[in-house]
Amino acid sequence: MLKINNLNKSFHSELGTEKKVFKGLDFQLNHGDFVSIIGSNGAGKSTLLNIIMGNTSPDSGKLYIENKEFTNLASYKRNTFISKVYQNPTLGTAPSMTIFENLSMADNKGKKFNLTLGLNKKKKEIYKNILTELGLGLEKQLDTEVGLLSGGQRQCLALIMATLNKPKILLLDEHTAALDPQTSKLIMEKTKKIVEANNIPTLMITHNLSDAIKYGNRLIMLHEGKIILDFKDSEKQDLTPEKLLRIFQTKNTTIKDDELFSL
Ligand SMILES: Nc1ncnc2c1ncn2[C@@H]1O[C@H](COP(=O)(O)OP(=O)(O)O)[C@@H](O)[C@H]1O
Ligand SMILES: [Mg+2]
Repeated sequence: MLKINNLNKSFHSELGTEKKVFKGLDFQLNHGDFVSIIGSNGAGKSTLLNIIMGNTSPDSGKLYIENKEFTNLASYKRNTFISKVYQNPTLGTAPSMTIFENLSMADNKGKKFNLTLGLNKKKKEIYKNILTELGLGLEKQLDTEVGLLSGGQRQCLALIMATLNKPKILLLDEHTAALDPQTSKLIMEKTKKIVEANNIPTLMITHNLSDAIKYGNRLIMLHEGKIILDFKDSEKQDLTPEKLLRIFQTKNTTIKDDELFSL
C-alpha cells in the first residue's frame, strides 16, 4: 500500500547545527492496517506524516503508493488521495463557511466544481444521513457557520471531511489531544467506525497509550527517528499501558516517564 524506503531527513538550525530526524527509515503500511504511532516528543512522528503529505520534503529516500512512486508529487495532488486530521480542530474546517459548504468543499476535492441545484439537494440528504449517524445533532445545523461549533463538533466534522471521498491513506496527528476525555473517546469511536467501514489504511499518532493499544491492528514506537517496536494484532492484545511504558524504559534509559506519555 504505502511504502517508504531509506528515508533521510535533517533540519538545520539558524546556528548551523544539524538535527538528523531520519537516518534510513523503512516503513510499510499494508492494506487493512490501522497503525498507532507512539514515541517521545521530537521522535519524528509529525515529520513522518508531513513527509507523506508532501508538506516537508525528504533529503533522500522514496515514497510509493500501490507501487507507484510519489516522492516528488506536489502536495495539492497528494491531497486527492491522502487526508489528514490535525490536533487543532480549527485546521481542518473553514470557520466562516457553513457545515454544508465545508462538506461540499471536501466532497469536491480533486473534482471540478459542478453543483447544480438538484445535486445540491441530493447532497444535502446524503450529508444529513452521515451527520445523523454521528449522533451530535449536526444534521440540524447544516446551514450553521462552522466557527460557531464546539471543538469536538468541529473535529468530528474535520474527520468526516477527511474521509468523505475515501482516501487511500488517512493520517491522524494527535487528533484527539486537544479535546476533553469524553469528546476524545467519541472521536476515537467514530474514527474506528469510519476507518473500518471504508477500509482506509490509517496512521494515527497518539500520546494516549491506552488508545494506542485499544485501537488499530498494529502499534509502532518511534524513537529518535527509528522504529524500535512494531507490534502486530496478536502481540498488541497482551499489552497494557504499564507494560508498554516498561518496554520503553528498557530501550531508553535517559528519558523520564513523565516526559513521555499519558496513560
Ligand atoms: N520545520 C522544522 N524546522 C526545524 N526543526 C524541525 C522542524 N520540524 C521538526 N523539527 C525537529 O525535528 C525533530 C522531530 O520533530 P517532530 O517530527 O515534530 O517530532 P514529534 O512529532 O515526534 O514530537 C524535533 O527535534 C524537531 O525540533
Ligand atoms: Mg508531533
